[in-house]
Amino acid sequence: MAELLQGMKRTHMCGELNKGDIGKEVTLMGWIQRRRDLGGLIFVDLRDREGLVQIVFDQTVSEEAFKKAEKLRGEFVIAVRGEVRKRESINENLKTGYIEVFAEELKILSEAEIPPIHIHDEDDASERLRLKYRYLDLRKPRMQKNLLFRHKVTKLVRDFLSEKGFIEIETPILTKPTPEGARDYLVPSRVNPGKFYALPQSPQIYKQLTMVSGLDKYFQIAKCFRDEDLRADRQPEFTQIDIEMSFVDVEDVIKVNEELVKKIFKDTLGVEVQLPLQRLTYKEAMERYGSDKPDVRFGFELKCINDIVKDCGFKVFSSTVKNGGDVRGININGYADRFSRKDISKLEDFAKTYGAKGLAWMKISEDVVSSPIAKFFTDEELKAIIERFECKPGDLLLFVADKAKVVFDSLGSLRVEIAKRLDILNKDEFKLLWVTEFPLLEYDGEAGRYVAVHHPFTSPMDEDIKYLESHPEKVRAKAYDLVLNGVELGGGSIRIHSRDLQKKMFKALGFSEEEANNKFGFLLEAFKYGTPPHGGIAYGLDRLVMLMTGNESIREVIAFPKTQNANSLMTEAPAFADEKQLEELHIKIVKKEE
Ligand code: AMO
Ligand code: AMP
Repeated sequence: MAELLQGMKRTHMCGELNKGDIGKEVTLMGWIQRRRDLGGLIFVDLRDREGLVQIVFDQTVSEEAFKKAEKLRGEFVIAVRGEVRKRESINENLKTGYIEVFAEELKILSEAEIPPIHIHDEDDASERLRLKYRYLDLRKPRMQKNLLFRHKVTKLVRDFLSEKGFIEIETPILTKPTPEGARDYLVPSRVNPGKFYALPQSPQIYKQLTMVSGLDKYFQIAKCFRDEDLRADRQPEFTQIDIEMSFVDVEDVIKVNEELVKKIFKDTLGVEVQLPLQRLTYKEAMERYGSDKPDVRFGFELKCINDIVKDCGFKVFSSTVKNGGDVRGININGYADRFSRKDISKLEDFAKTYGAKGLAWMKISEDVVSSPIAKFFTDEELKAIIERFECKPGDLLLFVADKAKVVFDSLGSLRVEIAKRLDILNKDEFKLLWVTEFPLLEYDGEAGRYVAVHHPFTSPMDEDIKYLESHPEKVRAKAYDLVLNGVELGGGSIRIHSRDLQKKMFKALGFSEEEANNKFGFLLEAFKYGTPPHGGIAYGLDRLVMLMTGNESIREVIAFPKTQNANSLMTEAPAFADEKQLEELHIKIVKKEE
């Protein structure tokens, strides 16, 4: 009898019953969604992972079951045996809406208090409450769908890569720092007083070492840890689809990843991704979209007008050009009448949060340009601007004059913000593209040295290696990002596999030989013994699933996420450690003076 649960055994899932089951005797187990009493009849919606089904307790069918059913409340867990019958009033909105189950036997497996949130997709509880009671939040069909979708994507990735000869290898969580630009989470070592492990920001170094080992093609669904400022698309721990392969160059990595992405979209959403994907160099992406992760579902592209305005009467523009800055604009084509002066002034405030000093504008109508700055331009200059932006009546031009970085940041963000305000972004449209030829290094004024744009193991482009020492800022990298609808989905590169070049790179980054040896000596050592050329990529699995399921935050597709302060409201992690534990770890907490 051990296989029976209180004498009953589940035969079906609630949500999977259909017309074909009419006449069958079934045993179901699940949670009470709702109970309605109609005198001699009690109706219950029973819920499990697969959906809802209506159970009918009819006094004339089973007096005993009916009596027990009177006690049922929301979220009670029950087992019920009964017969599937055709429903009289069909519910078209329900998958199981053609049938109902007439109960002959009922067992209450577990009672429930009134839950603090509604177990319903339309529940409007605050996110804090949802996260505190995450196990209840995850009972909602929408959340279960998200996790199921995530599972499907993960499984597809595993199947696809396995078929292509990749093997899944687990790499350590207790390790040394792997630099990816964030702070490390440290873990104290009890048996090595004063020493700390770092949790990996990514498996980067290990996956490269598996290539040195001759494992040829690696992948891992890898947990990564980064102590950084959190946002809707960032969590302190998140999951990468991490890939590395040997004897490849950029095109090989791109090819297999395009096939992977195509398969994921086809087999889950039925969406056909056209290959090859669009590609933009970093330079093009910045110049056209002001962003290295452009959303190309809409236009409003940036255009430079330095040549037109360099001698114009509007000093803000002409002096910017003379001082080596840029004047660029976007055409919000066709939407001029959607923006009053007040609206434009709000857009200006928005642009200012990105460092812009102002936002100049022009509205184009049949034969006039209305703009507070129009009077500073000659007719020829205005005509040239209109031609540059291919203006039609009803267009709105917005300009920023500043250092290139400020112009790109402000206009790049503005074009996306405006698209959001105009509500022209279609969530069901998936625009994937590669951004390539990233700069290898960028100067960090605060640190007073160059830092790696991607990470220190990324290879320079062959033709740019010669600038590594003389003009580091000129060197482009064999790096590529995969972008989806304005979100950086993944990034990777061909790696440096020569010890000499890796040393040069560390030098360009301002590491002394000693520092380099301290941090990455084992990698440099490994490169001594025969290293295949190799490269790879990592996707943010959470971000991919978020976008594919139309969610705004990765928290919606992570079972147990953390808050913006990296807290778990449910477990209340992180928590204080007790004295004894700290002592064992040789750690003393120094209280800050208030
Ligand atoms: P990168 O740092 O670009 O590259 O990370 C790869 C992808 O991981 C996702 N991601 C995150 N997702 C959620 N929360 C975070 N805090 C977070 N940080 C990053 C992004 C990103 O594109 N080792 C390299 C890859 C390689 O070179 O192969 C790496 O980690 O979607
Ligand atoms: P002002 O000359 O300061 O009165 O500015 C005239 C217009 O130019 C206003 O609409 C400002 O927002 C705009 N403006 C000022 N500085 C800039 C700038 N750096 N880039 C773009 N527009 C600017």
